[in-house]
Amino acid sequence: MKYNSVHIVKTADGSHTVKIADIDEHYHSVNGALSESLHVFINNGFYYVNKNRFNILEIGFGTGLNAMLTFMEAEKSDRIAEYTALELYPVDKEIFCKLNYAEILNVDSNKYFLPLHTCEWNKSIELSKNFTFKKINIDLNKYTDDKLFDVIYFDAFAPDKQSELWSERIFEKMFSILNNGGILVTYSSKGEVKRSMRSVGFTVKRLQGAAGKHHMIRAEKINNPKLSI
Ligand SMILES: C[S@@+](CC[C@H](N)C(=O)[O-])C[C@H]1O[C@@H](n2cnc3c(N)ncnc32)[C@H](O)[C@@H]1O
Repeated sequence: MKYNSVHIVKTADGSHTVKIADIDEHYHSVNGALSESLHVFINNGFYYVNKNRFNILEIGFGTGLNAMLTFMEAEKSDRIAEYTALELYPVDKEIFCKLNYAEILNVDSNKYFLPLHTCEWNKSIELSKNFTFKKINIDLNKYTDDKLFDVIYFDAFAPDKQSELWSERIFEKMFSILNNGGILVTYSSKGEVKRSMRSVGFTVKRLQGAAGKHHMIRAEKINNPKLSI
């Protein structure tokens, strides 16, 4: 099902988000899209990884805000990020070309933003020496990969809108494609989400949230030496 009624909305910090009226859902917190992305995915995900070269998987590419911020931070910190983003229903050109992220971050859209949307699907592209990007037009339910990741940005629609993507089955898959010591970060801290993550082996930590949300989750794949013989 492609979304029908799609609008750009300005959030409390001035950055845009997208609203899907069909399912009454926004791509980010209306209390601040940029603040939320920076807090959940960049500060508690990207910067938690203690490696100079690492693989990131994003569930739900959407507007490209998380990918853009990661591209910028990879350059700023001079680390090498290989970024894979999954998206089932790409945002149309008439929407993405109006999003104000490059403007409010005061960077060149032609370098950090537009290529993420206009580049070819299903192909790995080196956008700079610090950032290689591949977006895959696929349903998360059908996604398989031999690649292992160090961090997963789990940014699906909210559990009450898309419960099937917050299930044990999906978190088991996420756990299996993480390297040992890898993490999954997400903006939701619902009890059932934490329980599902724990049941598949994640060590779950509730952290302070941002942009109107009290908490967020960082779930870690910790190799338990007691379990390995
Ligand atoms: C909360 S929004 C993502 C926001 C995005 N990370 C951003 O920075 O704009 C959720 C995204 O997941 C996508 N999506 C929904 N169902 C999906 C599925 N089954 N597989 C892959 N992507 C899906 C939606 O189309 C939407 O772009």
